[in-house]
Amino acid sequence: MQQVILHLQNVTKQFAETTFPAVDNVSLTLQQGDILGLLGPSGCGKTTLLRMIAGFERSQAGEIKIGGQVVCDRSTCIPAEQRDIGVVFQDYALFPHLNVAGNVAFGLKNFSKQQIQKRIAEVITLVRLEGLEKRYPYELSGGQQQRVALARALAPQPQLMLLDEPLSNLDIQVRLRLREEIRDILKAAGTSAIFVTHDQEEALAISDIVGVMRQGYLEQIGTPEKVYTHPASRFVAEFVTQANFLPARRQGNLWETEIGSFELTANHADDSGEIMIRQEDFILKPSIDAPVIVRTRRFLGREYQYCLQTPSGKELHARTLKDMVLPIGTRVQICIAGNDIQVFPQ
Ligand SMILES: Nc1ncnc2c1ncn2[C@@H]1O[C@H](COP(=O)(O)OP(=O)(O)OP(=O)(O)O)[C@@H](O)[C@H]1O
Ligand SMILES: [Mg+2]
Repeated sequence: MQQVILHLQNVTKQFAETTFPAVDNVSLTLQQGDILGLLGPSGCGKTTLLRMIAGFERSQAGEIKIGGQVVCDRSTCIPAEQRDIGVVFQDYALFPHLNVAGNVAFGLKNFSKQQIQKRIAEVITLVRLEGLEKRYPYELSGGQQQRVALARALAPQPQLMLLDEPLSNLDIQVRLRLREEIRDILKAAGTSAIFVTHDQEEALAISDIVGVMRQGYLEQIGTPEKVYTHPASRFVAEFVTQANFLPARRQGNLWETEIGSFELTANHADDSGEIMIRQEDFILKPSIDAPVIVRTRRFLGREYQYCLQTPSGKELHARTLKDMVLPIGTRVQICIAGNDIQVFPQ
């Protein structure tokens, strides 16, 4: 059975002279070996939460346990250097006067010279930087520098790694490759981690568990599949899937909207709400007297993205396979793929 590596109970932080808490009553559990992707818009409290776990910031309320030990509560605050945590930031933060091996060795304090050499070789192999041990940071690409930062954090074999937007300074190609590699590296080392990002695709791709934050709150936490297919709120749906929403009214077994009626698939307490239509769930059928008009079309390589206009002037965004080419101005009837239509309170 997996062990709990991190447990937060009602963790809260409000900075002086601010109106709202930066982190508000957050509770979560991370199992040994799992990667938690922490996702949310700018300013929602991701870095503050990470800093409290690392011990750089103290929470005002709640409890933080790492590996079963209380590291922070009302009466306890264990200093950062005793928490057995590795940290990787967005800006690499390498020591410019130390080469790769020197940077990696930095965190290895209580080891013999021989052990240090062995450990450097191990982590350099893990992050695939063999042959670059003697290079200085200015002689490395951004992606390579971030791998050094990862190796340095992993070298002392921390119980938990905290990564705060480690890929956001890299270009898209490097970013896509490195996010796969980081997952592989963490899994190979068996290290539990929290990976902060505001890129939803990155969070879904890298994580075993995704947490979505909004204004200090943790709105939902669950597997990537669960968060994507069953968002707990309209905010999560919008942020994670960039879905469309349309006002709807219940009539018998149907949700009626300005673009047509859709079958009710689950019991719903309210008679009205907003139905969610994911961009990839649109089925567009050309029809002369249909209510929706194609306004723009963008070719995205594997698919087309359409902007559709409803009778009330609302814009909907749809993505379809590239063999489905609809001219601008086409009127389309809308069906929704799948049989699990979700409705959120207005
Ligand atoms: N030292 C501080 N003093 C006062 N307010 C702070 C401090 N640090 C952060 N905040 C505020 O706390 C809130 C959360 O900030 P935080 O840096 O945790 O957000 P974030 O989710 O990491 O955002 P981003 O994605 O932009 O990095 C913000 O409103 C921010 O202005
Ligand atoms: Mg941040």
